[in-house]
Amino acid sequence: ARTPVNVTVTGAAGQIGYALLFRIASGQLLGPDTPVKLRLLEIPQAVKAAEGTAMELADAAFPLLSGVDIFDDPTKAFAGANVALLVGARPRTAGMERGDLLQANGGIFKPQGAAINAGAADDIKVLVVGNPANTNALIAQTNAPDVPAERFTAMTRLDHNRALSQLSAKLGVGVADIKKLTIWGNHSATQYPDVFHAEVAGKPAADQVDEKWLADEFIPTVAKRGAAIIAARGASSAASAASAAIDHVYTWVNGTAAGDWTSMAIPSDGSYGVPAGLISSFPVVTKDGAYEIVQGLELNEFSRTRIDASVAELAEERDAIRSLGLV
Ligand code: NAI
Repeated sequence: ARTPVNVTVTGAAGQIGYALLFRIASGQLLGPDTPVKLRLLEIPQAVKAAEGTAMELADAAFPLLSGVDIFDDPTKAFAGANVALLVGARPRTAGMERGDLLQANGGIFKPQGAAINAGAADDIKVLVVGNPANTNALIAQTNAPDVPAERFTAMTRLDHNRALSQLSAKLGVGVADIKKLTIWGNHSATQYPDVFHAEVAGKPAADQVDEKWLADEFIPTVAKRGAAIIAARGASSAASAASAAIDHVYTWVNGTAAGDWTSMAIPSDGSYGVPAGLISSFPVVTKDGAYEIVQGLELNEFSRTRIDASVAELAEERDAIRSLGLV
């Protein structure tokens, strides 16, 4: 039998954690041939709830689940981790300024970065889901100087999937008929879902929609979908976020399909004018556990303006965490 892969999940007792852990344990994160060992990190007050979830995981009798350990200490939780899903974060509460939000999240992601640096496995892959995801990933990455920077990523796959879903509904095609969609920038309201390189059943998607629909319907619907879910469900997206986290890691490990790409927020190498080091979403192809930014795409004025605005927001967040001494 293969050696189990250690998967550390933070915020394990939260609502995304509840949806995510069962998908991981069933084999959907890494594939049907890979046993997994879960290492759950929670704050002390939520450890008991995490233990309850672990009881349910046991009761599901997943053949691929070779163990569940629960921690309230990041150093222990990340020891030997091959994959780390950083879901737990400090949400913005009413009246909270951005500086307070970043400070509070720095208190979480700085020690977690240090713990990953100290004890994660050499092949560690990190996905940050907890918001503000891109900047939390930058905090963790900067505090893990011995880990290659490219192992730190943040999630825009939910935005990517939402964009696929909206475009497929508009054009009356299946999501699998749409290729080469891109989310650029920050996982925030400034994100830019780009259909100008997308293909629908092999034909340019941009020929089948007009700019007015893109500007007035598609982009705001995708960017504000999280708020629409809260309004409808009375709680924020959880199962769809967990599903996107599964997709992100599965694609990173197993590769993108020929003729397609995906969206991941990754440390910029300066491509497309995005300042190097910012963790920004790009079109990427993945293969053998590594990713590369898709190069050579032409960006029209419509796209350039929107990408620049989202990247400017990321640069402001980076400047804010610098001035707070978090990186
Ligand atoms: P939740 O509030 O239900 O769960 C969060 C959990 O994290 C709680 O159990 C809490 O005790 C735990 N936690 C807090 N600090 C921790 C720490 N230092 N170490 C370990 N655990 C800690 O929240 P939910 O709905 O599960 O969402 C989690 C995060 O994911 C939020 O920040 C949310 O904004 C974000 N999110 C990101 C999305 C994306 O597309 N990138 C989509 C949806 C949500």
